[in-house]
Amino acid sequence: MFGKKKKVDLTELDRERLPVHVAVIMDGNGRWAKKRLLPRVAGHSAGVSTVKKIMRMSSDLGIRYLTLYAFSTENWKRPKEEVSALMRLVIDSLRRELEEMHEENVVFNTLGEISQFPDEVVDVLVNAKEKTKNNTGITVNFALNYGARSEIVRAVRKIAHKVEQKELSIDQIDEEQISQNLYTVGQPDPDFLIRTSGEERLSNYLLYQLAYAEFYFTPVYWPDFTETEYKKALLEFQNRKRRYGGL
Ligand code: FPP
Repeated sequence: MFGKKKKVDLTELDRERLPVHVAVIMDGNGRWAKKRLLPRVAGHSAGVSTVKKIMRMSSDLGIRYLTLYAFSTENWKRPKEEVSALMRLVIDSLRRELEEMHEENVVFNTLGEISQFPDEVVDVLVNAKEKTKNNTGITVNFALNYGARSEIVRAVRKIAHKVEQKELSIDQIDEEQISQNLYTVGQPDPDFLIRTSGEERLSNYLLYQLAYAEFYFTPVYWPDFTETEYKKALLEFQNRKRRYGGL
């Protein structure tokens, strides 16, 4: 999946001070395409190549979790053709890359209400999760039909249900209980958030989980977010951590 090995010098990065969980808002595919007078979908295709690069580099660095915002609950509002092209991309990329991801020991996971996708998409996603669930390498979460507020609503309902069933008392509702009812159950919170394309918003992404994360914004469009750009981001993360350590 991960494409050809890229030769970026990673020795400057301190392996002991890498984020454990990197969350990414992959933004700017449309503008990348527009700049080249290409259809928006060409931007998404180019974005898939970046996904591969960033997965490989994260895995090589020993980063444990990578969470990618691939389709938000708001993305349904896009033209029908673009929505189906995105679905197609998910299906085709996963079919093409799954075997290699599995060999690379990747755990494929999704965050979001995937049951609202067409059956063919659900089948591919469920199959990929099932196949890779016992792997021990990096966990890659694809946020698909994901929205943080509806994730929180879902968690509140799940907890309320447990209270109603007397499995849980109100006093037992704490931060941990909420975490355990989010899609990211069992995972550490992201410690680093990257958003590409110059937008500096959270866009309903991981609102609960990002409480303590470092944020990194870059004007680079997602298809142009190379290994070198990723390294720059990670160096910035390490610098911030160093400053905090010095206080
Ligand atoms: C944002 O760019 C990007 C998305 C809404 C989709 C991201 C999806 C991919 C990179 C492909 C998904 C691939 C897999 C394998 C899950 P935008 O369209 O909002 O760009 P713009 O803001 O410039 O219009």
